[in-house]
Amino acid sequence: MKKNTDLKAFYDGVYKKGEKEHYTYFRLQKGDMPDEFSAVFALMSWEDKDVMDAGCGTGDMCALISDAGAKSVLGVDFAESAIEEAQKKYEAPNLKYACINVDEIEQTFDVIISNGTLEHMDDPLGTLKAWKEKLNPGGSLIMTSPNWLNPRGYILQTLWHLFRAPITLADLHYLTPLNFEEWAKELSMNLEWSTVDREWGGGMKMVEDFKRRLPNVARDAGWKIPQERIDELLSWLENYSVPFMGDAKQEGAVGVYHFKLA
Ligand SMILES: C[S@@+](CC[C@H](N)C(=O)[O-])C[C@H]1O[C@@H](n2cnc3c(N)ncnc32)[C@H](O)[C@@H]1O
Repeated sequence: MKKNTDLKAFYDGVYKKGEKEHYTYFRLQKGDMPDEFSAVFALMSWEDKDVMDAGCGTGDMCALISDAGAKSVLGVDFAESAIEEAQKKYEAPNLKYACINVDEIEQTFDVIISNGTLEHMDDPLGTLKAWKEKLNPGGSLIMTSPNWLNPRGYILQTLWHLFRAPITLADLHYLTPLNFEEWAKELSMNLEWSTVDREWGGGMKMVEDFKRRLPNVARDAGWKIPQERIDELLSWLENYSVPFMGDAKQEGAVGVYHFKLA
């Protein structure tokens, strides 16, 4: 079974390649702020807050929060090439980075955010418990994580559960809002959640994502699927599934979770 520490080298390699295969890069190509970042950013006023971004990657979220007047922002990532890139891209008096395993952080914060990282931890609930202990009174944990309760999720989860075809090489867990609701009870914290990126969960962005992802899933599973078959599925999705996309609360491709100390 893959462990969190195995991902350090994987991510280091991804960032060294210039993020081209990194999923946030895929979403940032058009120059927009990803829906996930906008949703996190809108959750509170960041002014005068001490904030940690756990698994900060190349620092985009840290920079937004630093610009929004946080007292301090600490971006933590164990991939050296991510932190090197973050240091090159963003510099500010209230912004620091640490290239270590997030478990080693000892200070306390008003807010700990972690975008797309909890599902890479060996024990996500254990990690949330540890982060809760690092919160100042009145503090918040803000997490984002891929959400699978949508057409994209049902297809990829079917390939995973029936055939063990890896959806990504980095996710150790596939989380949904139900996991987070259970954890909020265990943590005795209040939870508000939403999902974002509906187009990615079941619209044309899902089809675009599949164009790039399905050949990789097939390769990593050791299958030789002719490209025409993949094109056939994509065409079916585009013509028959996308027009019927719903708008239920849980259908976005990314879950945004805000835990508050009770
Ligand atoms: C999917 S990326 C997300 C990066 C960034 N938050 C974003 O949204 O673009 C997950 C990040 O978590 C980092 N990471 C995973 N486990 C970690 C750990 N135990 N300590 C520090 N960083 C970790 C990886 O190196 C990677 O940069």
